[in-house]
Amino acid sequence: MPLQIVRNDITKMKVDAIVNAANASLLGGGGVDGCIHRAAGPELLAECKTLGGCETGSAKITKGYKLPCKYVIHAVGPRWRDGKHGERDHLISCYRTSLALAKDKECETVAFPLISSGIYGYPKDQALRIAIDTISEFLLENDMTVYIVIFDRKAYQISGKLYADIAEYIDDNYVDEHSDNYSARLRRLNALRDLEPVYEASVCEEAEEVIEPILPMPMAAPKKTKSLDEALGQIDESFSEMLLRKIDEKGMTDAQCYKKANIDRKLFSKIRSDKLYKPSKPTAIAFAIALELSLDETKDMLMKAGFALSHSNKFDIIIEYFIENENYNVFEINEALFAFDQSLLGA
Ligand code: AR6
Repeated sequence: MPLQIVRNDITKMKVDAIVNAANASLLGGGGVDGCIHRAAGPELLAECKTLGGCETGSAKITKGYKLPCKYVIHAVGPRWRDGKHGERDHLISCYRTSLALAKDKECETVAFPLISSGIYGYPKDQALRIAIDTISEFLLENDMTVYIVIFDRKAYQISGKLYADIAEYIDDNYVDEHSDNYSARLRRLNALRDLEPVYEASVCEEAEEVIEPILPMPMAAPKKTKSLDEALGQIDESFSEMLLRKIDEKGMTDAQCYKKANIDRKLFSKIRSDKLYKPSKPTAIAFAIALELSLDETKDMLMKAGFALSHSNKFDIIIEYFIENENYNVFEINEALFAFDQSLLGA
């Protein structure tokens, strides 16, 4: 998955480069900067002293020393004032410069903290949005795996409104599933017991309700037996076949689709070349989202991979929420999944 949000201490990340939220002197400080210098050892500071500082919105690169990464990219984020002093542009520039440096050094994996969102006071939800948007824009043109590392739960917030909407949607759907009323239960029971028609009058609370007989289920027609060979000869369209068909129908290129799905090229090639490939559920959903499928089409596609969407878990309900709201941005969906402690879309 090219862009991932993870909860971790960035100094523990085994990646090619980690990004430091530094200050213009590049001589260390508090927050993540302090953690990185402590974990890297004094040689990091010695190299930083040779760099001559760095402007806000820019970044410089050093070795990683005792850290498990090869490089540290020291990015200087803006200090938040009121949002009217170029803070956003500077923050975007931090991410772009850092990614360009990582690309220069042929890094395949890079981890970012949420730059400026601590001591520099940038509102966390806006800092996260900028990080996601800028990194995902870069990933449209470049092959790299980028992690946004969230240190503590408080550092992570999706917008209060989105959070509340999703929480309400989860609530409503759990209620739907579990508030089985008596009539509905009775109707199912009757069907199961194959009883004579019964009337719901006795359980109807509203006198005006039209009372309809509930008929027993019709007898199923006897099945014609097929040989195993015949049955196997009638295998439906597979997940991979449906995916490729839908990509064509939507007029997308393969790359547009897997990038929008936040799936890496290698995994897509595997799926493309194996008609019977069985993806994980988050991967299958990521493709359905990238293809902007309706809820029914999504369910159909999932079924081909052996999965379903149900109302008995939050992950599925959150996916449903986004599809029903026609929001097909995998990164926004992942933000929400992360906020609700669910696994993320993609590989
Ligand atoms: N791993 C991942 N993220 C972390 C870690 C960690 N070990 N520690 C903190 N964070 P901050 P800034 C998160 O304050 O706002 C320094 O003194 C933290 O929760 O480190 O850019 C520099 O020298 C927050 O979300 O950086 C500068 O003077 C994010 O990292 C100034 O602070 C950034 O918080 C820079 O301030």
